[in-house]
Amino acid sequence: MTDLTTEILPANSAGFESAAAIWQQGGLVAFPTETVYGLGADARNDLAVAKVFEAKGRPHFNPLIVHVQSVLSAQRYVQWSDAADRLAAAFWPGPLTLVLPIKPNSGLSPLVTAELPTLAVRVPAHPIAKSLLERFDGPIAAPSANPSGKISPTDAMHVTAGLGGKIDAIVDGGACDVGLESTIVGLADAPALLRPGGMPREALEAALGEALNLHNSQDPLTAPGQMTSHYAPGARVRLNAEAAQRGELLLGFGPVDCDLNLSHAGDLREAAANLFHHLHALDAQNAAGIAVSPIPENGLGLAINDRLRRAAAPRD
Ligand code: TXA
Ligand code: MG
Repeated sequence: MTDLTTEILPANSAGFESAAAIWQQGGLVAFPTETVYGLGADARNDLAVAKVFEAKGRPHFNPLIVHVQSVLSAQRYVQWSDAADRLAAAFWPGPLTLVLPIKPNSGLSPLVTAELPTLAVRVPAHPIAKSLLERFDGPIAAPSANPSGKISPTDAMHVTAGLGGKIDAIVDGGACDVGLESTIVGLADAPALLRPGGMPREALEAALGEALNLHNSQDPLTAPGQMTSHYAPGARVRLNAEAAQRGELLLGFGPVDCDLNLSHAGDLREAAANLFHHLHALDAQNAAGIAVSPIPENGLGLAINDRLRRAAAPRD
């Protein structure tokens, strides 16, 4: 898997045609979604899905999200519910993933779910992702297009840097708007927040009409992918910093003097969109450490702080 030439495909109908043909042949294509770039493969093809795990160096017990075009296509693979209806009506297409019981005979590769009885599904809103799904006309398994444990990619260059030579192609659609992965809500039991993300918890609870259970991050099977160290830059990360110490670069938030600012105006949406981009950029400067200003814990701040805590966590 190390000798592929990774083709950069344009975001036009010729590019979409090539991407769909690669998927049909069991290959891997990275593509933009509104959250982050995904590394896509035909979710029904065991070999293609196995290649996703191999290219990312991802542990096989960590299941993938399946991307589909519509609620109707999602219903082919999962047992639907009233709660799913409420959330999908309010937020699909968009940065929300629903975990529901998988239907028997779904036709999906068992590698996708890591043999869990549930499946994570999402309808992305990005126009390029939508065109690709329409052209391919089938389910696409797509984790974020980064090596496992590293910072997620929010532009095509990040994907090339992390996975170039290991995947067939990348559809270049520029920078991702949201900049954080989708929020994951578990609906197989009482509604639970399995991963904070690009759709704020407050909005989900309002549409659902009830509070979400907060997941127990100690349980890697109900909340897999929640291994503590994740999104890790090469540099050490220090949180809630008022100023940089020697050898550190400061990633600011609000009106502070810093090396890069997530949002000078203190806007959480802007900060989310800049988070991974700025971490990639600061990491490229090979500093000993990255210090980060405090970020409020409301709205998108919940997901931003989740990613920052993982970036700062002790590594194996
Ligand atoms: O925004 C996103 O969600 C992006 C774009 C590409 O769609 N994808 C993404 O995929 O972030 P990934 O693989 O990096 O993260 C998916 C998360 C993992 O933490 C995985 O453990 C969890 O979803 N997951 C997948 N299937 C699950 C399931 N059946 N139950 C619980 N969690 C699941
Ligand atoms: Mg990921």
